[in-house]
Amino acid sequence: MTNSATAVAHANIALAKYWGKRDETLAIPATSSLSLTLDAFHATTTVTVGAEADAGTLDGRPMSEGELGRVSRFLDLVRERAGSTARATVTSESTVPTGAGLASSASGFAALAGAAAAAYGLDLDPRDLSRLARRGSGSAARSVFGGLVVWHGGTDDATSYAEPVPGGEAGGPLDPAMAVVVLDAGQKSVSSRVAMRRTVETSPFFPGWVESTEQDVRLMLDAVAAGDLAALGALAESNALRMHATMLGARPPVRYWTAHTVAVLDEVQALRAEGLPCWATIDAGPNVKVLCSGADLDVVATALARGTDGDEARRVVTARPGPDLRVAAGAGVAA
Ligand code: PMV
Repeated sequence: MTNSATAVAHANIALAKYWGKRDETLAIPATSSLSLTLDAFHATTTVTVGAEADAGTLDGRPMSEGELGRVSRFLDLVRERAGSTARATVTSESTVPTGAGLASSASGFAALAGAAAAAYGLDLDPRDLSRLARRGSGSAARSVFGGLVVWHGGTDDATSYAEPVPGGEAGGPLDPAMAVVVLDAGQKSVSSRVAMRRTVETSPFFPGWVESTEQDVRLMLDAVAAGDLAALGALAESNALRMHATMLGARPPVRYWTAHTVAVLDEVQALRAEGLPCWATIDAGPNVKVLCSGADLDVVATALARGTDGDEARRVVTARPGPDLRVAAGAGVAA
């Protein structure tokens, strides 16, 4: 048995969002969700078992106390299952800007789940890895798989897991792709964990959000099965706006948008009016991810890079469907 393992997991962006938990400890979401795993952003994490105390680095710097605490609590779950008390060293490198609503926790915790399970000698299938990753960060459950992924919300630990949805392949009938408009790669003001809790506890719109998202997931799965990107995109844009409307209804309100966010929403609407099919979605940050077909990706990205708001900081990253989580023994894994 090896005591060191490395995993690579890619970021995912939800088209039907996860926003709110029904069980905080187990990270059981209030709704199911649907996402696209992206090739453009990934985390590479190595876990080596056998240390005085848990220790970790993130992009070459020591983890903060908060970051290490979260990693350590996650490793406790793995140790419990493995019957081990051994501490570990974790090194993680990410190409995703941390904490800016670009799903850094999704790829980070999916990679940590894969590497830690292997390093501690747990033999988990992808569904069990998804359930484990969920405990680190809900959206990490979906980063275990490539392409389009559904996370069945479920009602307990056993029934809350993600699985791939056929039809999300690049070049297939749907051919989904994304232009990621990065407006502000800085740390977000309110963490998704805190913002979700506040939304669940204080937004009067939350019950409506839960009901309509369950329905959106069903309609989106139908759209995927029909290869209908326009139906999927329209539902995704609406679902994101409903999520933000719900958190705007919290007290105090949660607002991640900036004026630049609104400018991109206007631009996406204008591109559609000009006959270029594309749809916006926004997570827990100001950035906007724009869904379109792989065939239109370069045209959409070029138009969005131009911008209408004179924002010099704007950057557009093009992304296509990314792969499944990969795990290998030792310190290396094929990228
Ligand atoms: O996994 P978390 O706790 O970072 O929450 C993710 C929340 C959203 O990105 C806003 C939505 C989603 O489904 O990914």
